[in-house]
Formats: sequence, C-alpha cells, structure tokens
Amino acid sequence: MKIAVIGVGNVGGVIAPRWAQAGHEISLGVRDPQADKVRAVIEACGGRAQATSVGEAAAGAEVVVLATPFPATRDAVAACGDLAGKTVIDCTNPLTADLRGLSVGFDDSGAEQVAAWAAGASVVKALSITGAGNMADPAYADGAASMFICGDDDAAKAVAGELCGAFGFDIVDCGPLSSARLLEPLALLWISLAYKWGNGADIAFRLMRR
Ligand SMILES: NC(=O)c1ccc[n+]([C@@H]2O[C@H](COP(=O)([O-])OP(=O)(O)OC[C@H]3O[C@@H](n4cnc5c(N)ncnc54)[C@H](OP(=O)(O)O)[C@@H]3O)[C@@H](O)[C@H]2O)c1
Repeated sequence: MKIAVIGVGNVGGVIAPRWAQAGHEISLGVRDPQADKVRAVIEACGGRAQATSVGEAAAGAEVVVLATPFPATRDAVAACGDLAGKTVIDCTNPLTADLRGLSVGFDDSGAEQVAAWAAGASVVKALSITGAGNMADPAYADGAASMFICGDDDAAKAVAGELCGAFGFDIVDCGPLSSARLLEPLALLWISLAYKWGNGADIAFRLMRR
C-alpha cells in the first residue's frame, strides 16, 4: 500500500519504518527532506521510503497519516492538497501547549475538525491514545495493548485497523468519528498517567473481555 506519513517526529519516526518493514511503500511528507532526522528515518525504512514535500507525498498515496502537532495540522492538511477519496489516519491530539488540557472537546474533536479541513477524505482516528513507544511494541506480558479507533467510513476504518493491527495492537472499533470526542481525552489521560502521575511510558490501555 502507498502510505504518506506527514510529520516525522516521535510518532512518524516509529510508524513509517514499521510499515516499510511490512512491505508498504512510504512517502514522508516533510518540510525539509534533507534534515538529519528525516534521513535517519529513511535509513530505518530500509530503502522503502522517500522524503518529499507534503503535497507530493499525499498526492501519490492511498493512505495519508497525519502525525503533526495539532496546531500545525490545519496547515499540513492544506499542504496535502486534494485528499478526496483517500483514507486519512489522524494520530493527532489537540493538546494545549502545557500538555495539561485539550483545546477542542465535549461537542467537537480534533478529528472532526480534520475531516472538515480534508474535504471528501475518509478520516479515521487511530494511533492517538497511547505513546509512540507502544507503537514500536504494543506487546505486554498480559496481552496486547488496545488501539481504539473510530471513523464514519467502514472501509477506511478496516484499512486503518489492518495497518495498525499489524503493529500488534488489539484493534477496538469505537464507532463513528464523533467518538474521537472520547478518544482524545483518553490520550490526555495516558499522558497524565505516564508523565504527571509517575507511571512512565511503559503503560497502555487494554479492553478486557469476559
Ligand atoms: N508522541 C507521542 O507519543 C504521541 C502519541 C500519540 C499521538 N501523538 C500525537 O501525534 C502528533 C505528533 O506527535 P509527535 O510526538 O510525533 O510530534 P513531534 O515529535 O513534535 O513531531 C511532529 C512532526 O510534525 C512536523 N510538522 C510540524 N508542522 C508541520 C507542518 N505544518 N507540515 C508538515 N509537518 C509539520 C515536524 O516537522 P519539522 O521537523 O519540520 O518541525 C515534526 O516532524 C501530535 O498531534 C501528538 O499529539 C503523539
């Protein structure tokens, strides 16, 4: 599958190599293709990735993954150009600058805003509720970490579920995109548990089933 990863930081830098190693064709949509961190990610992708502008990366992809800080995401989506008909995986969280709150919520979500900006795209919220370390390795002694995803288009959600499930997550379908109103606060809870309340980043949410 041709996947554009927009933003090569903590999240993009983990998921791009994982998908490349699984045989997908990766385009990194970046502002500076020559940056050291971008070159390091290309190397980690073992030859199955190239770095290009955000617009070029998105234009050639079937799936576009947004791994940008939320305040930059509207610009990043605009730089993608026409996203109609594409699956867009939104990993972002609309965190406040001090990481203590959300800038969107209750009756709206970052994901729904992304869907409004990305006209005609099928937006799926995924890879947002846990730390990047869990995207590298979601396996825990008592089972796989869950990945809660949501979206309005079942076909796009199936694609996102397959791509994220391949990392080893237990994929949990949380219904329509408006469920991102619940998932984005969950990301804030994970951040608070990890960095504010002393649990560290080796923690993950898991849905138990009897
Ligand atoms: N970190 C985590 O564990 C984690 C987990 C789940 C979800 N998330 C969410 O995922 C998103 C990314 O997090 P992160 O920790 O990976 O962030 P990060 O390390 O700060 O990386 C962000 C990336 O976005 C790029 N970027 C910034 N503005 C851009 C623009 N206008 N157009 C294109 N690229 C742009 C940056 O590139 P430059 O080098 O050019 O600045 C950088 O490569 C955030 O919304 C975050 O809330 C993070």
